[in-house]
Amino acid sequence: MATESLISAQDLAVRYPNGEIALHHVTFEVGFPSFMAIIGPNGSGKSTLVKTALGLLKPLRGSVGLLGLDSVKNQSQIRRLVRYVPQRDRIELNVPMKVKDIVLMGRLVKKPPPRVASENDKAAAKSALRQVAMEEFWERPFPELSGGQRQRVLVARALAGEGPILMLDEPLAGTDADSQNLIVDALGVYHSENDVSIIMVTHDLNPIHTLVRDVLMLKNTVVGVGAPCDVMDPGLVRELYGPTAKIVEHSGHRYCVTRDSGVDRHD
Ligand SMILES: Nc1ncnc2c1ncn2[C@@H]1O[C@H](COP(=O)(O)OP(=O)(O)OP(=O)(O)O)[C@@H](O)[C@H]1O
Ligand SMILES: [Mg+2]
Repeated sequence: MATESLISAQDLAVRYPNGEIALHHVTFEVGFPSFMAIIGPNGSGKSTLVKTALGLLKPLRGSVGLLGLDSVKNQSQIRRLVRYVPQRDRIELNVPMKVKDIVLMGRLVKKPPPRVASENDKAAAKSALRQVAMEEFWERPFPELSGGQRQRVLVARALAGEGPILMLDEPLAGTDADSQNLIVDALGVYHSENDVSIIMVTHDLNPIHTLVRDVLMLKNTVVGVGAPCDVMDPGLVRELYGPTAKIVEHSGHRYCVTRDSGVDRHD
């Protein structure tokens, strides 16, 4: 039994300044520790939930929190505890940052100035890059990497940091099967070897479903929450992705087939 809550929301609603209600009546709780996936179609409020939990957006109504800390009242504590990989990182590609600078940032941001990398920081950054097979790129300019390689470096930056929660918003977007496998394997190993919970937004549960312990299905409100085999239910999946979505069973696992997921890999 989980003794602590990893993430919980109580009647959460979030509205953007243009009036768009991105989330409404969101109530759920997932226990700590977990490897949790947040799934749902485009515009279903996945990124909004993650940003609100981090205190980057304010609830219109209700509350959301991590490890029992409220996103509004305890924002600075939450920011210290969470390593966040946003869906669209604002790394300035005109600045010739090297891969090592990006990954070291994951350790230096939480240090007081002057932010000078110690040997320990460098060793942690190199080890994180090794986990996503990018260690030879240490001295390479980040803007020269391919999209998939950049994603691997951004995941390494999160792995190099410290804190009990890793929050990744679509880290597999724009990556090919090899990069996806490297990222998923690195997260799986990291989660099993460290006392760190992972909250991962993903379009496609299939690449990670053997690692995932809890799934939250969103469509601007909670459609389902629970263990993968419970939420991988034909009725819930159709509610989420429409009438053509279905579940297929293969080698004892249930795969979700939607128009926007990688079904071909599993046929
Ligand atoms: N900055 C914003 N201003 C206004 N509306 C927004 C803003 N960001 C998101 N929205 C709206 O809020 C809703 C939820 O968006 P959100 O980005 O959370 O969805 P998502 O599930 O992460 O989608 P995707 O799979 O495309 O990343 C959408 O209808 C979107 O148009
Ligand atoms: Mg999103």
